Amino acid sequence: MATLREAASLGDLGLAEGVLTYLERCAAEHFASEERAMWEAGFPHLDAHWSLHLAFATELARRKAERGPGRSRTTLLLELGRWMDRWLEEHLLGADAEMARFIRGQAGAPPTIAARRSDGP
Ligand SMILES: [Fe+2]
Ligand SMILES: [Fe+2]
Repeated sequence: MATLREAASLGDLGLAEGVLTYLERCAAEHFASEERAMWEAGFPHLDAHWSLHLAFATELARRKAERGPGRSRTTLLLELGRWMDRWLEEHLLGADAEMARFIRGQAGAPPTIAARRSDGP
């Protein structure tokens, strides 16, 4: 989110808002592909992980709409960029890492009896 902060600190609000919209779309696409991968792998904590993605989207929408007396749009966008950085780093190191370990383990695991049966004649 360095680009968002850069644009905001340069005072280029049009660019900062554009970067924010782009980041929002990237996050939504990234979350959707993760959720698909978890579903396909039978990840047991899919609901909890999905709730984290939803909480991010909800908080992002709240912060985007935030208007406060005494706080400029630039300040709000800078804060938003810092919040996104922290959230995404924490999520990557925590929930995403847990999901990745599970999916990697599944990929190396031998097929279950049920899977072998469905592959059979
Ligand atoms: Fe992720
Ligand atoms: Fe995730």
